[in-house]
Order: sequence, then structure tokens, then C-alpha cells
Amino acid sequence: MHIYFPFLLLIFSCSSVVHSLVISTSLGELDGKQVGDFHLFKKIPFAKPPVGKLRFQKPEPVESWNGILNAKEYGPACLSNSSVTKSIQKVLNEDCLHINIFTSDNCLKTKNCPVVEYIHGGALHYDSAVMFNDTVILDHFVKKDIVFVIPAFRLGIFSHFVIEDQSIAPNNLALFDILLAMEFIKSEVHNFGGDSNRITLLGHSYGGTVAQILSFSTEVNKDLSLFQRYISMSAPSNFETFEYQLKKTLRFAEKANCIPKGSEHLTNKQKELYMRDCLQKIDAMELLRIQRSLEDAGYPTYGNSVIRGPIFQEVPEQNFMDTPKNVSALTGCTKYEALSFDSYDDIGVSLGFENPREVNVKYHQDQKNDQLGIS
Ligand SMILES: *[C@@H]1O[C@H](CO)[C@@H](O)[C@H](O)[C@H]1NC(C)=O
Ligand SMILES: *[C@@H]1O[C@H](CO)[C@@H](O)[C@H](O)[C@H]1NC(C)=O
Ligand SMILES: *[C@@H]1O[C@H](CO)[C@@H](O)[C@H](O)[C@H]1NC(C)=O
Repeated sequence: MHIYFPFLLLIFSCSSVVHSLVISTSLGELDGKQVGDFHLFKKIPFAKPPVGKLRFQKPEPVESWNGILNAKEYGPACLSNSSVTKSIQKVLNEDCLHINIFTSDNCLKTKNCPVVEYIHGGALHYDSAVMFNDTVILDHFVKKDIVFVIPAFRLGIFSHFVIEDQSIAPNNLALFDILLAMEFIKSEVHNFGGDSNRITLLGHSYGGTVAQILSFSTEVNKDLSLFQRYISMSAPSNFETFEYQLKKTLRFAEKANCIPKGSEHLTNKQKELYMRDCLQKIDAMELLRIQRSLEDAGYPTYGNSVIRGPIFQEVPEQNFMDTPKNVSALTGCTKYEALSFDSYDDIGVSLGFENPREVNVKYHQDQKNDQLGIS
């Protein structure tokens, strides 16, 4: 008899691996993955695939689907390939606009857990929404009955084809992706046990910058229905001017052979249309290769954002925070900030001090004498 015992054990352990839960959203059903009391729903589409004619365009809301969508595993990361990051993403695809949602049995029962939307770092140029450790998310958030959400957004040239004419291609596309994901969460999160009146935007590094700029923009979240609080961790304040980003777009188009011949006879609009249509026809992996070759040649990377309509009020950068909305904010940094980037050699200027020279001298003196409190 005892010979059958291990066989029974095997059956039990197998059946515990395949636990799942199907939930309904207003767009269709999702089959998630169950881990103990927790439920993970990954690779949920919130936009149409941003490919072909939709490349460089505002994300369009996803259409509803028939049948049950498999939501057990992460989808591909948005396209990136930078030498700046150590976390190289391995599975990539231009079709990447998915959202990942982590929730608990408790939240699904009560349907009123607070929600945290996490915006990943990487200067809008690298890293991804599918690179985080599930166990850490479950232990630190979901175990405390917080619904945790990570949206993807386009990166690099795929979100930084910045031109003059907004009807041909809007600037700050990554931010449009994030806003559409937030609209999705606002209307669907109750299906995952979340309370859409208690949403906190949580960003790390440039994700923290995104949390700040969406909080201070007078053009978005006017009724505070997308989020009511934000947390910004280790946020830099890297904004670029429109002229700077336009120059980078032209450099890219030139490298890709997408500047029209005899362009001096064309209107600006004709030229920008030609560039867009030409770049839309090139294979996405080839665009990624061009982007990397420009980076390797020492040209500036395709990241950061530009304070320009339609997402931002068009005021000088120093006036951007003059019109705060009524959102609670928490912000933090570590003592290791600013050590890894050459640009902070000029830390007095970077931090906007009125006496940058003095600050620089003191900072570098303290650093040399090991007096920054960093061991
Ligand atoms: C990223 O760039 C490196 C260096 O050019 C190249 O070897 C690698 O194949 C690229 N990876 C992808 C996914 O394009
Ligand atoms: C994820 O985090 C847990 C808890 O800290 C750790 O035990 C595990 O090794 C991590 N997994 C990976 C793939 O890094
Ligand atoms: C700001 O929001 C808090 C909390 O929601 C509320 O108590 C307060 O009255 C609001 N203040 C203003 C000026 O609207």
C-alpha cells in the first residue's frame, strides 16, 4: 500500500501549481495566477498594439475581447537597448502596452483596497514594467491589502519622435501611455478589488519625476479622478527643451534615411509627414539598432520629457510648480543620490543653488575627505 503514497503527493503538489481565478472586466475575462491568498493578473492589454500606423501615435483604448485571456505570465518588455542600464530586458516587442495587477483574496472580497500605481524608472529610455520580483511586491504591498499595478509605456525613439506638428505625432508619448493606463485603472480596478477613489501614483527615479509632473500639470487629472496622492522616490529633474528633442529626431531620421530629398522646397508639415511615414515603415528592431548605434557613437539618448502642451501648461520650467493641485505628496531620497552620474560633477548647478561655485567646492572637498556620511 505505502507504495502509492508518493504518487498521491505528486498529484496534490501538481494541482496546487495550476490554481487560477477568472475575473470579469468590462472588456472581457482574464485568467490570472493564484499564489496562496494572492492573485496575479499579467499582460492585460490597455491599448491597441502601437505598431504600423499607430507607431508614434497616441495610444488608442483597447477593444473588448471574446473568451478568456490568459493573464498568468508577463508579456514582453517595451523596446529598449541601452548601455546605461545593468538590467537588460531580454524578451522585447513593440506590442507591449500591457498592465500587470497584483491583488489578494481579501481585496477581491471587500472591493475597497487602496491602489498603488508604480511608474518604473529608466529616463523613459530603458527598464520595464515586467522586471520586478513578484515575491517582493506581494510581501510589501499585497499582503497589506494594497492592489499593486505596473503599467508599461513606450521608451526611447518609440516615445520620442518629437516634431513641431502635434497632429502628425504628439510629443511625450510615454506620458500619454501612462495616462491611458491610469484611465483603464480608474474604470476597471474595482474588478480587481481596488478603490478608484484611493489611488496613489508611486514612481522611482524618472518614474518619480513622472509622478511629480503629472501632479503639477494643470492639463491632466483636473478632477483628481486619476490619482489622489503621489510618492516620488529619488527623482531627478531632467527636462529637455523642445528644440533639443527636435534636433534628436532629425538626427535619427537622417541616420534612418528618412529625410526627404530636396526638403528645402517642402513645407515643414510635408517634411514631418514624410519622416513619420518613412520611419513607420522600418522594422522596429532596425529602429532599435539605429538608436543603439547613435548612443554608442556618443549622441544624446532618446529619453526624458519636454514641458510642452498638450500634457503640460506651457510655462517656463521654474514656474511649473506654481499651480499645485490638492494632492498629498511624499518624497524621498537616499544618501547615495547623485554619485553615479558625471552630470552631477556640477552639483551646485544641477540642484539649482544660488551659489553653485561654493556648493561645488564644498561638495567635492567633503567627498574627498569622506565627509558625506557615505561609507
Ligand atoms: C543591443 O545592442 C548590442 C550592441 O550593439 C547588440 O549586440 C545587441 O544585439 C542588441 N540587442 C537587441 C535586443 O537589439
Ligand atoms: C525575489 O525575492 C525573494 C524575496 O526577497 C527572493 O527570495 C528571490 O530569490 C527573488 N527572486 C529573484 C528571481 O530574484
Ligand atoms: C484638500 O484635500 C483634503 C483631503 O482630501 C481636504 O480635506 C481639503 O479640504 C482639500 N483642500 C482644498 C483647499 O480643497
